[in-house]
Amino acid sequence: MTPVLIDCDPGIDDTLALLYLAALDHLGEIDLCGVTTTAGNTTATQAAGNARWVRDQLRIDAPVLPGQPVPLAVPLVTTPETHGPTGLGYLEVPAAPEDGTWPDLWVEAIEKHEDLHLIVTGPCTNLASFRQSHPEHHARLRNVTVMGGAVGYRGNTTPTAEWNFWVDPHAAADAFGHTPAPVTLCSLEVTEQFLIDPPRLEGLIADLGPAPIAGHLPEILRFYFEFHQAQGEGYQAQIHDLLTCMIALERVGYEHRGVRVDVDTRGERRGTSEETAGTSNTRLVTSADIDGAHAELTRAARALR
Ligand code: BDR
Ligand code: CA
Repeated sequence: MTPVLIDCDPGIDDTLALLYLAALDHLGEIDLCGVTTTAGNTTATQAAGNARWVRDQLRIDAPVLPGQPVPLAVPLVTTPETHGPTGLGYLEVPAAPEDGTWPDLWVEAIEKHEDLHLIVTGPCTNLASFRQSHPEHHARLRNVTVMGGAVGYRGNTTPTAEWNFWVDPHAAADAFGHTPAPVTLCSLEVTEQFLIDPPRLEGLIADLGPAPIAGHLPEILRFYFEFHQAQGEGYQAQIHDLLTCMIALERVGYEHRGVRVDVDTRGERRGTSEETAGTSNTRLVTSADIDGAHAELTRAARALR
């Protein structure tokens, strides 16, 4: 059973990522050791409240703790226009109280599992903070997958920057500047290809059957469909973080190449990721089997019935 820690900012696509991981946990394919949250789509405490709501809907017992409240060196900006006023589209649930210390959860998971998989689907704030506060434990993280960046590709926040890297550019730069092992990077040019539209959502709801979360998905996803439509992307939604989890856990076919990635922190190029010369620090995912990803979501959703 693969041990997994997810660091996320639900967020609508993060919510579907959590749903997927919960299904794999129910299937006995992974051990979801914990969920920590970053500030990005919403605040870290609201994201933790959202993640706890998702966890309780899906009947799993992973601890959920809010992470760092603000980026390393820039003011926090959230995006209610993308993910709804509190991050779950038209659904609103309470924020989580501060009732635990997230780095302790990471330390415990790292000490317990040599083969821990860390999946980061929000800004890299916690990952970079952890390197500074717990360098020895950070050095033991050998399997890290990050959703973020747009490498040699247009951004979705500025012309060259993707949202997660733009929110905390110093953390993204730190994550790639000091990685103990190459980070698997699922960047925008690949993740934006994984789309859910209303017929796909109906199929997902049918696959989930009586699972309680099924009844809430329309009010959550409708906001994301409307956002993408307003952006000229059609009445559908890009589900970046879910595809990232499938790639991290090798549940879909994908291609990658070893490259060096660096992230700019300042000025107009804030959050811009690019391939540079030098020692490889990244397994850059260059394509993924999108049909396979839809089939994998179907398989997982049926496990939650
Ligand atoms: C990323 O930004 C967030 O809004 C999504 O949750 C995803 O992690 C895509 O740019
Ligand atoms: Ca996210």
